[in-house]
Amino acid sequence: MRKVGYVLTVLVAVAAAARAGDPAESHPFFPSLLNTATGKPVKSTAFYPPSKCKGCHAEIFDQWKGSMHSNAYRDPVFQALWKLANKETNGLTDKLCAGCHTAVGTVSEEVRMGDDGEFHVSEIAEEGVQCHVCHSVVGTRMLETPTTMPQNASIVVDPSLVMRGPYDDAKPMWHKAAYSELHTKAEFCGNCHNVFHPLNNFHIENTYNEWKFSVYAQKGIVCQDCHMMPVEKAIEVARTLQKPKNPGKASPMGPDRDNVFTHEFVGGNFTVTALLGADKHAEIAKKRLKSAAGLELLLPGEADEGDIARFTVRVHNVGAGHNLPTSLTEVRQMWLDVKVTDASGQALYRSGALDEDYNLQEGTVLFRAESVDAQGRHTIKPWEIVRFAYNTTIPPKGYADREFAFLVPDDAKGPVRVEVKLRYRSYPQAVANLLLGDEAPVLPIVDMAQAEGTIPLD
Ligand code: HEC
Ligand code: HEC
Ligand code: HEC
Ligand code: HEC
Ligand code: HEC
Repeated sequence: MRKVGYVLTVLVAVAAAARAGDPAESHPFFPSLLNTATGKPVKSTAFYPPSKCKGCHAEIFDQWKGSMHSNAYRDPVFQALWKLANKETNGLTDKLCAGCHTAVGTVSEEVRMGDDGEFHVSEIAEEGVQCHVCHSVVGTRMLETPTTMPQNASIVVDPSLVMRGPYDDAKPMWHKAAYSELHTKAEFCGNCHNVFHPLNNFHIENTYNEWKFSVYAQKGIVCQDCHMMPVEKAIEVARTLQKPKNPGKASPMGPDRDNVFTHEFVGGNFTVTALLGADKHAEIAKKRLKSAAGLELLLPGEADEGDIARFTVRVHNVGAGHNLPTSLTEVRQMWLDVKVTDASGQALYRSGALDEDYNLQEGTVLFRAESVDAQGRHTIKPWEIVRFAYNTTIPPKGYADREFAFLVPDDAKGPVRVEVKLRYRSYPQAVANLLLGDEAPVLPIVDMAQAEGTIPLD
């Protein structure tokens, strides 16, 4: 009897392990979908530090240093939310977040929460999304994910002396090189730029998916064509829908190349980049934001004193290869600041102003996703999010109309002036205060676009 019991237990265990999608079995770093070539942990010392690459790729190193990739682990906003997640989920999210923010710390299983309430990893794992992480990627696991989209670090890394990249004829001295088509595709980036909840499968961050169903994907324009190009060239890519050319050298020791890809990886983050001293990256982020949107004012031919006047503001996503804003759309703030005055300077209408605590005035028009928990209550904690109640982000090359109305007083002096700005900041001030405490700066704002016009009075 005892023996049968034992055999049964073993059979049940084998069957359980073989069950399709058993996370612990097929994803050794679960809840992250990151993996290594052997499916076993790899020591962090298997990865070369970026300083090693600097010797022969100085220009690329200088571009990467200060990028949000180089700061993906140190980023104080990330650290604050990661620590809160650790506390509220009893550590269940540690590896999920680490898989993308420090792949080295994840595959080496170094990530530890210390008694001091801080996370600890080795120095090389603190380098975030670094050279050897990306150039040791040997495959994507996108077809093994719940939606067959790349997501939650669905990559396989195999750190060795073979650097994977876009060339099929590179002959470096110290390391070896191998051609990787994956590195030239959006799926490469999408593995980390799509975040879903590993228990309810809800997609919280969708940058890759937004791109995938856009005109950019249809034209073969990938993330690299905008985010690994000088900003002026990226703006042309969005305008013309043509792939860029950026001749140069991958290393002073290498031949001239038709195309080299820059490594600043700048998006919209001009706040944390500046906070961590990367002023160059912050400046590029502002340029990108200012190139992303267009504003149109649709004003009536005239308005009457004593009556309600209406006008429409149209916001175009002209420059982003995904929704505007994208990614942490439940947190980022992109809003309309609308001011209406009459010819004597009398204020007739205002929306989108900041209050004395730097929070947005009630009723402000924002383009964002409202994330909610299982009870339908507002939350921005990723581990609680089960769905979006609404999503008003603007699709690539799409637009959104918002109507405004105000009362024209009997004593108004014509013409009435309408001034509109599209403004952006990385977080609501209250969220920054919550996460960063006393060290929270007053958040800077970028004006992405502006428009103005007048309405004659009858
Ligand atoms: C987020 C991932 C990522 C990181 C981090 C990264 N690279 Fe790259 N790198 C790429 C991709 C993707 C390409 C190829 C782009 C293409 O051809 O479409 C590339 C291209 C290259 C090339 C070929 C020449 C060129 O510029 O196109 C070299 C050399 C290189 N990287 C070195 C480095 C070094 C050195 C670092 C660190 C200082 C680094 N990379 C960090 C993703 C990365
Ligand atoms: C699939 C990869 C992935 C996973 C998993 C992931 N992140 Fe991120 N995270 C990103 C990317 C990519 C960005 C940058 C997006 C952007 O800037 O718009 C980001 C940005 C952030 C930011 C904003 C940082 C800033 O400076 O504005 C915070 C905070 C953050 N992540 C926290 C977390 C936490 C906490 C977890 C785990 C619960 C987590 N992330 C899991 C990829 C991931
Ligand atoms: C001793 C000099 C040297 C060092 C150190 C060095 N590289 Fe290279 N690397 C080169 C040269 C030369 C090339 C060839 C450039 C070409 O053919 O255009 C190259 C090419 C590459 C390529 C392109 C491979 C391909 O087939 O597309 C990548 C990626 C790369 N290096 C990454 C790295 C990374 C990451 C590091 C640090 C871990 C590093 N390199 C360190 C000299 C070096
Ligand atoms: C190993 C995971 C990983 C890969 C692969 C990856 N990224 Fe990222 N990326 C991140 C994380 C994590 C952050 C956010 C860091 C933060 O905000 O703390 C980020 C940030 C960024 C940002 C800055 C966002 C901002 O708010 O300014 C851009 C742009 C970006 N990535 C583009 C790319 C592109 C393009 C590729 C493909 C060539 C790529 N990434 C591949 C993980 C990754
Ligand atoms: C046509 C050019 C273009 C393409 C293609 C493109 N982007 Fe962007 N991206 C932009 C611009 C412009 C911004 C700044 C406006 C914004 O924040 O959305 C941006 C912003 C971002 C941000 C920062 C979002 C934030 O505000 O926190 C991330 C992350 C990002 N892109 C990743 C990607 C990834 C991943 C891909 C490919 C799947 C991609 N981008 C394709 C132009 C592009």
